[in-house]
Amino acid sequence: MHQHDFAALGLFITGPTYVRDEVKQAALLPEFGHRDTENKKRFAPIMANLKALAGLPANTDYQVVIYNGSGSTTMESSIRSLVAQDDVVLNVSVGAFGDLYHKMAVVNGKKARQLSFEPGRAMDMEQLEKTLQEVAPQVVTITHNETSSGVVNDIVAACALIRAHGALPLVDGVSIFGGAPSRISTARPTIYSTSTQKSLGLPAGFGIAFIGPDAVAKAEKVEFRGYSSDILAQLGCASKMQTLTTPNCTLANQMFVQLDSIVNREGVLNRFARHEKMRDMVHAWVEKLDGFELFAQEGARSPTLTAVRCPQDMTVNKLKALKATMRVKGYLFDSGYGKLNDALAAQGRAILFRIGHMGDITMEMLGEYLENLEQALEAR
Ligand SMILES: Cc1ncc(COP(=O)(O)O)c(C=O)c1O
Repeated sequence: MHQHDFAALGLFITGPTYVRDEVKQAALLPEFGHRDTENKKRFAPIMANLKALAGLPANTDYQVVIYNGSGSTTMESSIRSLVAQDDVVLNVSVGAFGDLYHKMAVVNGKKARQLSFEPGRAMDMEQLEKTLQEVAPQVVTITHNETSSGVVNDIVAACALIRAHGALPLVDGVSIFGGAPSRISTARPTIYSTSTQKSLGLPAGFGIAFIGPDAVAKAEKVEFRGYSSDILAQLGCASKMQTLTTPNCTLANQMFVQLDSIVNREGVLNRFARHEKMRDMVHAWVEKLDGFELFAQEGARSPTLTAVRCPQDMTVNKLKALKATMRVKGYLFDSGYGKLNDALAAQGRAILFRIGHMGDITMEMLGEYLENLEQALEAR
């Protein structure tokens, strides 16, 4: 073993997250050639299990594409391939990751408009409808689960509204997929993007896209889709169970093992139920803490992460000190989304910390973490 001073910390951040030993061991499975018959032995079950986890039937008209990169790669590909030069894209944001989709549209030279909601609030359908009428966009981006604030949006209602106004809905599902129902089969977005390092309990390295049938007709009309960002090129390789560019074979082996375990051992519904129980455990814990409150709007609280509003006397520096205390206890504490806390502090408002409860974290692990965190909070 090489010398190192790496700390083995329990990750309770919002991704990357805890990787089980079985998944770590899977990294030792044989390397393979991505244009060889060995490739399909990994990727055919990976794609089938991803569909099962997404709640899509085997004969679905959605195609699964594995991108080298991460969730952002897939999201940027959707902007480059599905927003034409003359189109207007409306980026709906309930926080930092909704803003990220907007930024991707802007830096790719698209005509982008933004509809933003107050941090902690979910998308409001009346406001969305008004904006759809005003802006008349061809494409709309939305966030399923906003990682900066712990808000989950109703993507079924939003996609229906967006479709009713003749636009294509693109959904960022990065921080929820694998921990809760994706709703793809009812929401029917043009594309739903996610990545490996969050509720799937894998290392980072792939972006995953569920691409609907309307994406092809649209992409054919969009110029300059790029190379690795071209949805049509990606779909061409995915139809052969391949990736467009050379995949991380180690991660593919790990993903093969992990998805098999999720679908055939833990069970998809059990996994979702465990995430709900983890959310409830965190909510009950916050409610008994004096001066701390749940940040996200009631009825829109994420099953995979919770943002906790601190008492008014909590400062960014005190949260940093808390992080150091938790590190000594063997944990990586999430001291909130930096830009959001800076903005809240600048307005004289209470700041937040977050608890990631996603992927393969167990109730026991979470219980122990909350106990340690409570002690650290009491001693602050
Ligand atoms: C909601 C959301 N969207 C997009 C991203 C970006 O994903 P990635 O880091 O996989 O590129 C993240 C990462 O935290 C996220 O939480």
